[in-house]
Amino acid sequence: MAKIMCGIGSSHVPAIGAAIDHGNTQTDYWKPLFDGYQPARDWIKENKPDVAIVVYNDHASAFSLQLIPTFTLGVAPEFHPADEGYGPRKVPTAQGDPDLAWHLAESLILDEFDMTIANEMDIDHGCTVPLSIMFDQPEAWPCKVIPLCVNVIQYPAPTGKRCFDLGKAIRKAVESYDKDIKVAIFGTGGMSHQLQGERAGLVNAEFDQAFLKDLSENPDRLVKIPHVEYMREAGSEGIELVMWLIMRGAMADNAGETYSFYHVPASNTGAGLIVMEDPD
Ligand code: DHB
Ligand code: FE
Repeated sequence: MAKIMCGIGSSHVPAIGAAIDHGNTQTDYWKPLFDGYQPARDWIKENKPDVAIVVYNDHASAFSLQLIPTFTLGVAPEFHPADEGYGPRKVPTAQGDPDLAWHLAESLILDEFDMTIANEMDIDHGCTVPLSIMFDQPEAWPCKVIPLCVNVIQYPAPTGKRCFDLGKAIRKAVESYDKDIKVAIFGTGGMSHQLQGERAGLVNAEFDQAFLKDLSENPDRLVKIPHVEYMREAGSEGIELVMWLIMRGAMADNAGETYSFYHVPASNTGAGLIVMEDPD
């Protein structure tokens, strides 16, 4: 049977992708961030997943305000990097896993999560940057990728509780898949940031670090955080953190932290990374 082998929580800041793409990871500005990423990169080299379910939000790249699905599952055989204005990132085309993705669609929808199904979808920085953070610059991504997109850019976004429950349903779906494969689940976005309005540039390191800590120590607290608290404490784009709760919900209740790292600033955000594993 298939199994969730790890959860990865990660920022998906576009400038981090640009630093990798343009060979700037060793500059004074970026080196401390990439030094902090290295132990997670080393860990995943030794613990290779077969498939990564990457939970992220599309930033008006594949979707526009004409169509705003709350949860979208990519079932295509491949996903191309989106052109976000500067041409597509020069990263590998992600190979999908249509067989597992359709199994997830069936299991989740029969479990009463109304997923939108995408047969064709370009993936933007929300999905490609976390892959670059974990896998650097390979010729091909080392695992298949199933993108799972969440609307967090147009109010109302799903609640943290809804996201956590979706994670639980994903775990159940993976565990009922009959192939013997190892699945990683990525929850991406955040951490605190606000890109607009009077508070543009807001970062709340205390909030972010407590969030990272409570992913293993007190996930119940995180599940109860209402939208208005993300907005107040983590800025208008801090709501991206609800996607980390899909990852957390897919892990065992007593999952623990294998590695975590936090750094300010990365572009306009507090950047976080966590690797979580179930107990043996
Ligand atoms: C930035 C962060 C994001 O999460 C994003 O989607 C776009 C920009 C930033 O910090 O610049
Ligand atoms: Fe974002």
